[in-house]
Amino acid sequence: MADIRLEGVGHSYDGGQTWALKPTTWTWRGSRAYALLGPSGCGKTTLLNIISGLLTPTVGRIFFDDRDVTDVPTAGRNIAQVFQFPVLYEEMSVYDNLAFPLRNRKFPKAEIDRRVRQVSELLGLDPVLRRRSRRLDPGRQQIVSLGRGLVRSQVAAVLLDEPLTVVDPALKWTLRSKLKEIHRDTGHTLVYVTHDQTEALTFADEVVVLNDGAIVQTGEPAELFLSPAHEFVGHFIGSPGMNMLPAEVVGDVVRVGPAEVGQVTGDLPAGAVRIGVRPEFVRITGEPTSPGVAAQVTGVDRMGAYDLVHARVGEHPIIAKTEAGSPHRPDTAAFLHFPAERTFLFRDQVRCGSLAPLNGRSPR
Ligand SMILES: Nc1ncnc2c1ncn2[C@@H]1O[C@H](COP(=O)(O)OP(=O)(O)O)[C@@H](O)[C@H]1O
Ligand SMILES: [Mg+2]
Repeated sequence: MADIRLEGVGHSYDGGQTWALKPTTWTWRGSRAYALLGPSGCGKTTLLNIISGLLTPTVGRIFFDDRDVTDVPTAGRNIAQVFQFPVLYEEMSVYDNLAFPLRNRKFPKAEIDRRVRQVSELLGLDPVLRRRSRRLDPGRQQIVSLGRGLVRSQVAAVLLDEPLTVVDPALKWTLRSKLKEIHRDTGHTLVYVTHDQTEALTFADEVVVLNDGAIVQTGEPAELFLSPAHEFVGHFIGSPGMNMLPAEVVGDVVRVGPAEVGQVTGDLPAGAVRIGVRPEFVRITGEPTSPGVAAQVTGVDRMGAYDLVHARVGEHPIIAKTEAGSPHRPDTAAFLHFPAERTFLFRDQVRCGSLAPLNGRSPR
């Protein structure tokens, strides 16, 4: 399976006034399963269509291994693409729809039959194989669409553009684990587009986070959770997302209001920053701690498995995820501690530093 390399690839739909995809350099490694994750309108489909050749980028070159395919039409790229909504021949049977991509490429009849039956069994389509696709519900139609994308075993890559949007939620889990299974068997290079973090995190070897036409971070799910490189990743991944609080670098110390919360690692010019810490790592107590930040509890959501304690530092909201049955009550004082190894500093949304414990002062 090919490495797919983008070199300075960008796209503008309006003659260069705005970038739907900002010029990007990035390689999709052969045989890996990627999730391309980002909110609606951030450029996911644009990027996918550039890879498959449906769209010619405004700038940049695309390579499949060492072959420059920038000017090669879709048919010459050997890519399987599944779209968000079913794309089927409605008057054809499910079998013929699945067979179509193979017949088109003149596969031997026996081979076609073998592949169609394999995919049909895997996706649970056996009971409807002879039915006209028009007669299926939209969810089932989409599964047939998915099958059409998976039926060819020799492809440079499989691109899936939010393929489970119209599928019943209960079926999504099953289909996603089947996709993983298929990926393990075939070793396709796979790019799975989604705006749903759970889908991305459970599916992929590596997640590529796209925001506003730019890749803001790539990494394994745990890396994105534990070590966000951009505020957007902090917000978008995690539930609830990362807390952000205004803070200030004074010398080598970081302050939130009057409270010192840690020491800056490395050289960071003095001035305003934002500190980011996930609700999972905020420690909250009723007693003053040092170092600690005074806060006011505003409410507690009892979620069953855990509590979400909502508080305010000055006028800034912050959430701590605690064990169920936390003793905190609204309108009471609390003290927050931010563990240095889980707290990051951001400037202009980009991570600019980390925190170290205050010299000689460990939390009590
Ligand atoms: N054919 C098009 N013509 C003009 N603008 C488009 C077209 N397709 C997408 N866009 C714009 O480009 C941006 C990225 O869109 P898209 O790639 O579809 O995002 P996503 O798939 O992440 O939702 C959006 O602002 C969208 O409005
Ligand atoms: Mg899209």
